[in-house]
Amino acid sequence: MCGIVGIVGHSPVAPLLVEALKRLEYRGYDSAGIATVEHGELARRRAEGKLVNLQRKLDGEPLGGLIGIGHTRWATHGVPNETNAHPHFSDGVAIVHNGIIENFAELREELKKDGYSFTSQTDTEVVAHLVGRELAAGVPPVEAAHRALKRLEGAFALAIMFRGDEDLIVGARNGPPLAVGHGKGEMFLGSDAIALAPFTNSITYLEDGDWVVVRRNEFAIFDMEGNPVKRKRQQSLGTSFMVDKGNHRHFMEKEIHEQPEVIAHTLAHYLDFANGTSRPLDLPFDFAKLDRLTISACGTAYLAGLVSKYWFERLAKLPVDVDIASEFRYREVPLSTKSAAFFVSQSGETADTLASLRYCKAAGVPIGSIVNVRESTIARESDVTLPTLAGPEIGVASTKAFTCQLSVLASLAVRAAAARGAISSEEERAMVRSLSEAPRYAAQVLKLDGQIEKVARELAHYKHVLYLGRDTNYPLAMEGALKLKEISYIHAEGYAAGELKHGPIALIDEQMPVIVIAPHDRIFEKTVSNMQEVAARGGKIILITDTKGAARATVDTMETIVLPDMPEIIAPIVYALPIQLLAYYTAVFMGTDVDQPRNLAKSVTVE
Ligand code: AGP
Repeated sequence: MCGIVGIVGHSPVAPLLVEALKRLEYRGYDSAGIATVEHGELARRRAEGKLVNLQRKLDGEPLGGLIGIGHTRWATHGVPNETNAHPHFSDGVAIVHNGIIENFAELREELKKDGYSFTSQTDTEVVAHLVGRELAAGVPPVEAAHRALKRLEGAFALAIMFRGDEDLIVGARNGPPLAVGHGKGEMFLGSDAIALAPFTNSITYLEDGDWVVVRRNEFAIFDMEGNPVKRKRQQSLGTSFMVDKGNHRHFMEKEIHEQPEVIAHTLAHYLDFANGTSRPLDLPFDFAKLDRLTISACGTAYLAGLVSKYWFERLAKLPVDVDIASEFRYREVPLSTKSAAFFVSQSGETADTLASLRYCKAAGVPIGSIVNVRESTIARESDVTLPTLAGPEIGVASTKAFTCQLSVLASLAVRAAAARGAISSEEERAMVRSLSEAPRYAAQVLKLDGQIEKVARELAHYKHVLYLGRDTNYPLAMEGALKLKEISYIHAEGYAAGELKHGPIALIDEQMPVIVIAPHDRIFEKTVSNMQEVAARGGKIILITDTKGAARATVDTMETIVLPDMPEIIAPIVYALPIQLLAYYTAVFMGTDVDQPRNLAKSVTVE
């Protein structure tokens, strides 16, 4: 998942390319580069590491030209260094690429036999030489690009520029997103609308198999056979302001503290607080007629789906299958004709989740997507989009998107329960009232950050941490572990508390802090037994509970974080905040890059 940009402009293009790349850094940031054409000649600057390194290089060695392409990288092939940074060159051509060329090895061998040598370890360089070879055979640039594109297998979003032509960029899309931006006497290409927002909000999204010829005052889209195709031009909702951190040290900290507000916005979109009902939704299915619900997603979004399984099954008596998308997409799952499918994704571009959506769509299953980016590919390929109103989430570790996903899913579970006659209107009113209190409780819990910071200072000394939870606290335990490991690099695992005695208890000693997520709910006593098993073996317990739980947890703990007693239905939403804060402060103490942790990127558009 890299970010690419192309500009055929009428002002110095290098600073504009860097501005666009800044907005694409969430897609990958282990190296970056730009290329321009000036006086007919191709030139490039590339740098390892963050975009600031490229800017420093450009300050020292500026690039001229009114046309250019740029790239910020999350390495798939080849170590993240300057040699492997994009743009990649061949004779007379420059190229930037997001995706994976799956047949690059055979193409590389073929090109080597034709005398081409490779300077990088990337799959992308193969594409540059494929185009270069056509140019060397006298094929004009547009046709040269088209012939090269037809040789490619796999996922690619590309921007291709040519020596000697300062009014031409060829773009192509197969998998990872690519958009055309329409300016006045200038045109743009970008991985998404956010990258192009400083220049235009008039956007045409390419579809898979499209390629586009972009010039300053015109563009033409074709399918892979070369037939012209039409795509809708639309006003993007993309934000032109550059999201900033406000008075927070990190985007993640800011986004954690935005949660009371964005949870409220999201819940209000689905629930009529005044009348105590869930709002009618224009769904492509009737909850009352479903016999199963499929939910598929990745990472934190998957864990939101896993929480919702308990809600849909308990409240709506609706069986739910929740799958990790990278597994679901290849498992050939038999799907009921009386089922529906939900796909949860903050970015709306996650390749595995998109592939799972397409599997269900091909089977004729109605598709709903719960996304934070309304113009994303997953949204555009769904029958209905159910937005989270979290606002742009920049921190790679998902926080406010997660609690907004839970807010949407909880609202849908209430809607389904009412539609299926599983709850009375009085019970629906009670649940809507409980959900309406989630923002207030979330705001209260954020006030515990001083205590949590103290606990994190301790946690930062350990190498391994175990999170335990039962029922909806089990997916939360996995989310807590995911948060901790992805930003502090401390190994952590989330486990069903009842599973402890089936193996993981062998891990317990004083070097293994155990974080137990246990509000005083229907199975609290069972979790207390698990904590006693841990304490009996010298394990150090950090208990996250409520006042009732604190009073009844008959076990010594290293620390007890006490949240207010709250309605059971909102506990998963609110208990996400202390586990996010715990991971955040631990990472701050560890001195890691909280917003852009190593090896990660915000949007995983490759499989
Ligand atoms: C969350 O903290 C992770 N960064 C990651 O697991 C993320 O949730 C996952 O990649 C799914 O992304 P999506 O929601 O954009 O589809």
